[in-house]
Amino acid sequence: MAIRNIREIGDEILTKTCREVKEVNDRTKDLIDDMLDTMYEANGVGLAAPQVGVLKRIVVIDIGEGPVVMINPRIIETSGSQTGNEGCLSVPGKAGVVTRPDYVKAVAFDENMEEYEIEGTELMARAICHECDHLDGILYVSKVEGELLSSEELEEA
Ligand code: NI
Repeated sequence: MAIRNIREIGDEILTKTCREVKEVNDRTKDLIDDMLDTMYEANGVGLAAPQVGVLKRIVVIDIGEGPVVMINPRIIETSGSQTGNEGCLSVPGKAGVVTRPDYVKAVAFDENMEEYEIEGTELMARAICHECDHLDGILYVSKVEGELLSSEELEEA
């Protein structure tokens, strides 16, 4: 288990499309453990593999309800919408307003490559959308409505 370096906006790797995971081997398991450690260390609610420099379709999420590991995630249903602040560990000190579905259903594989279904509303729905975007090289800053704010500006708002 180790903390990995988080890639920041401007790093080309964050704009690439990630590859499907075909099998989970020891290296994949180490990567997932490190992603969780790195996310918790940085106080994030989600992290995608490209953020630690690995172009694989893996994301981890914890909105305070325990860790969720999603391998090859696919969003299969969305409904409603929510508009609110969003941030990203790869865009430190910034936040912006993004509209996302308010409900998301996704399918993914767990660390044993067992397929499962997951649903989320509110923050979980937002996190699933945000992290899945990373796997296609999309950062939330391209979806911000209005200005990207600094943390100081947010506190004043
Ligand atoms: Ni992010």
